[in-house]
Amino acid sequence: MAELFRICNLTKTFAGKDVLKNINLRIYRGEIFALIGPSGTGKTTFLRILNLFEKPTNGIFEFDGKPVNGTPLEKNRIRQRSSLLFQTPAVFNLSVFDNVAYGLKVRGFDKSTVEKKVKEALGIVGLSGMETQKARTLSGGEAQRMAFARAIVYGPEVLLLDEPTANLDPYNVAKIEELIRHIRDKCGTTIVIATHNLPQVKRIADRVGVLLEGKLIEVNSVGGIFTSPGDARSAAFLKGEMVY
Ligand SMILES: Nc1ncnc2c1ncn2[C@@H]1O[C@H](COP(=O)(O)OP(=O)(O)OP(=O)(O)O)[C@@H](O)[C@H]1O
Ligand SMILES: [Mg+2]
Repeated sequence: MAELFRICNLTKTFAGKDVLKNINLRIYRGEIFALIGPSGTGKTTFLRILNLFEKPTNGIFEFDGKPVNGTPLEKNRIRQRSSLLFQTPAVFNLSVFDNVAYGLKVRGFDKSTVEKKVKEALGIVGLSGMETQKARTLSGGEAQRMAFARAIVYGPEVLLLDEPTANLDPYNVAKIEELIRHIRDKCGTTIVIATHNLPQVKRIADRVGVLLEGKLIEVNSVGGIFTSPGDARSAAFLKGEMVY
């Protein structure tokens, strides 16, 4: 499988505190990679580094075979190709249509293409017909699906998801999981998802990384991690025995 992210000896330090410690990881094109671990362990920080919102303190970070050097041009090259979805969707005080169209407009797509793509994305997330509704009046589940549409509307190769279903009811959780699988199967999108929902990991992930206090203590297939975890601390975390 082709490598999309290659991370070697990556560390991130905030004000003298090591939040990510010596991370080594490859993420392959088209896989769904789940990042799990206790709260405060560095999952969000790691996703923010992958999306270039944060700069690693040390280490090598390559995207699609080239080192990421942090120049504005380089940042653009990657941001054009990836999308980060947060736990609480960012909702602009605009219509549903304009919220989803935003990323296309800033990328300079013409009006008819914007219309076509927004319609298509809203169809995928099950919000067809809600184009003119003010986004602030959507329910939490609808707002997250709208944010998902906004994230996928320009066809990113990478979708970074930070606890995308944490606040949702079972219907919307199932819907978002279906969307994640759909977008990967249909478009070959590479997905990295941070989640506390272990049954969700079982349902959607191909591989899993366990972060503990900033260290990636295990990377395993989803089958492997739930049947025979390679690290006693992963096993304890998965069984809910870890005290934190
Ligand atoms: N900008 C920052 N400045 C200082 N410390 C930070 C900053 N961002 C994150 N941290 C710290 O880094 C650590 C890891 O935070 P992070 O948000 O990555 O954890 P997480 O695994 O996503 O947790 P959760 O599961 O609760 O979302 C925390 O101790 C947090 O306080
Ligand atoms: Mg987090």
